[in-house]
Amino acid sequence: MSELDFKGSKILVVGGAGFVGSNLCHALLAHEPRELLIVDNLLSSNLANVPDHPAVNFILGSIADDRILEKLPRDIEFVFHLACYHGNQSSIADPIADHDNNTITTLKLFDRLKDFENLKKVVYAAAGCAVAEKTFDEASATPEDAPISMYHDSPYSISKLIGEFYGNYYFMRHKLPFVKARFQNVYGPREILGAGRWRGTQHTVWRNVTPTFIWKSLQQEELPLDNGGNASRDFIFVEDMARGLMRCALAGAPGEVYNLASGVETNIRTLAETINQLTENPTPVKLGPPRDWDRSGKRFGSTEKARRELGFVAQVGLAEGLARTVAWTRENQELIKQCMDSHEFMMKHL
Ligand SMILES: NC(=O)c1ccc[n+]([C@@H]2O[C@H](COP(=O)([O-])OP(=O)(O)OC[C@H]3O[C@@H](n4cnc5c(N)ncnc54)[C@H](O)[C@@H]3O)[C@@H](O)[C@H]2O)c1
Repeated sequence: MSELDFKGSKILVVGGAGFVGSNLCHALLAHEPRELLIVDNLLSSNLANVPDHPAVNFILGSIADDRILEKLPRDIEFVFHLACYHGNQSSIADPIADHDNNTITTLKLFDRLKDFENLKKVVYAAAGCAVAEKTFDEASATPEDAPISMYHDSPYSISKLIGEFYGNYYFMRHKLPFVKARFQNVYGPREILGAGRWRGTQHTVWRNVTPTFIWKSLQQEELPLDNGGNASRDFIFVEDMARGLMRCALAGAPGEVYNLASGVETNIRTLAETINQLTENPTPVKLGPPRDWDRSGKRFGSTEKARRELGFVAQVGLAEGLARTVAWTRENQELIKQCMDSHEFMMKHL
């Protein structure tokens, strides 16, 4: 069988205005699809991320909305489901909102897609953090078949796993060509601090560690290191992630799961110091206690299976990826500031 191709195809990206989703959409457009349909309710994203391109058809709203589901054209060939309730802390603050945007969304989407006849692949954004072993000892690379705990620190983490369960069910029962891409910690351009609506905690503004550190570092502020910066993560540049997602769609086997990871374990203190060097921030880092909800410690992903079966290897190293993210942040300071400032009142009254 010849390999699949995006050229001339009809593609749906759910959550396509988001950080990873928008980078994926830009990458997909380079392959000349016939139509790129994006469904997003802008809950944690900004319209500025949606590509201005004749092939793009943007639908504003929730993928759990029956009217939107009914409107989805039955001849879609590829689906990427990247919508979520961002992120762990927001889901702890409002588990029902997490359910509405991270669980029921997935179930309703898969149920709607189950008898679409032209579907070649449905790629789901799964979370490596929901699978990784909780350890502060030496971490080993998490493989795809690592055991999954029944005890989770956040509704977000549970929802991401439920998405995998539902997809597996629709694959087994309805032959949905479902592929799971398990993300590690993605960073890069188009992650806009404060993008979208207030989601109950300061993490509406301070999303993930990398954009937070870059922003604070550019303001010459001290970078706070929870647990003394002793935790580690596997950081993967968003362009690599977009390539990995496309490999999952073109070469992933239905029913299978693939880690999309760099395979490199990076200490959070090293991340902070590298960013401070890039931005020439003279202010020393600030060592702090662990976050009360977070037991995740040290982790990184195994890259073996994705390399062997998808031919996917992350190409952008951390120093280059961070330099490009710092440059993007500098160029987009005004937009980022606007998004952050839109939550000023709520941030003050926390
Ligand atoms: N960024 C990471 O490091 C990372 C790590 C693990 C998993 N993931 C997963 O990757 C996906 C993308 O993450 P991201 O970092 O780009 O987050 P993001 O918040 O930027 O993107 C999520 C998008 O989903 C949209 N959305 C939320 N609820 C929706 C709904 N009901 N209907 C339609 N759209 C809705 C949001 O507005 C946003 O545009 C998510 O599923 C996330 O769980 C990301």
